[in-house]
Amino acid sequence: MKNEDQFINEQIKIIQETVGSEKVLCALSGGIDSAVTALLVHRAIGDNLLCMFIDNGLMRKGEPEEVIETFGRRCNIRLQAVNAQERFLHALKGITAPETKRKIIGTEFIRVFEEEAIKYGDFSFLAQGTIRSDIIETGNKKRSIKSHHNVGGLPEKINFNLLEPLKTLYKDQVRSVGSALGLPDYIVRRQPFPGPGLGIRIIGEITAEKLEILREADFVFCQEIEKDGLSIWQYFAVLTNMKTVGVTGGVRTYNYTIALRAVDSIDAITAEWVRLPWATLKAAAEKITQIPGVSRVVYDITGKPPATIEWE
Ligand code: XMP
Repeated sequence: MKNEDQFINEQIKIIQETVGSEKVLCALSGGIDSAVTALLVHRAIGDNLLCMFIDNGLMRKGEPEEVIETFGRRCNIRLQAVNAQERFLHALKGITAPETKRKIIGTEFIRVFEEEAIKYGDFSFLAQGTIRSDIIETGNKKRSIKSHHNVGGLPEKINFNLLEPLKTLYKDQVRSVGSALGLPDYIVRRQPFPGPGLGIRIIGEITAEKLEILREADFVFCQEIEKDGLSIWQYFAVLTNMKTVGVTGGVRTYNYTIALRAVDSIDAITAEWVRLPWATLKAAAEKITQIPGVSRVVYDITGKPPATIEWE
């Protein structure tokens, strides 16, 4: 890539010429790709861009608030936040199969997006954070192991023209452009987070109670890793759906087992589990077992292959 400023200026010009005085809609997920897309389009057309953030209730602790704060307040982007937590939970009731969960989360996202979009006027364009690797991976459907790219994807029958300003960039280039656009470091450096979110980190049925436990456990684990200054590709907690016996204050308990996973990777196609310092694991386990509903913590020592990074 030529330098970031040159790329930004070129894209601003292209966006302005393509869009003219029409309105553009962009779905923000909190991830880097949609964030950089939104900032770029906002630079080009200002308030003719409306960003939509759909809170599906499957995000990590504090994330929805962070998206609203960063884009709405700090970057001054017109942002419509939609709280669809209950709706997603309802649609996922009783569902245990991972691929069915992915499909439901993807479909529900599109429905909410379509319903909300018509409330805010006529949009001729949809800005999407497609990057180069999305096109390469999606093009290779035969090798698909999980239906990643069906999730949070495009409404198929929707009548928008597409704006995909990042589609020639690789992830590291997207990060550089993000920094050049003034995106805060915590978003530029953010670890990958799957579209279906915590929905595929709860094995079995997703419930409000399990989400609360997992969100807290994940937060504690991430804090310990970040506190120890470790630089890791991806790290998270999983609610295994398995209850085991524990003992607290001399009393028998029967609660969930939380699994911790930390992997290093270059492209997420293969991954190696990280030899975390014992002290980090110990501190995380001690704090996570204090969360009501948790009796035990285990650490995942499987590489990819044979396991995948996510448990579902
Ligand atoms: P796996 O589990 O397939 O994950 O080894 C590889 C990378 O992809 C992420 N991942 C997803 N991302 N929708 C996404 O947007 C999905 O359904 C999905 N499943 C996995 C995973 O977090 C890892 O970075």
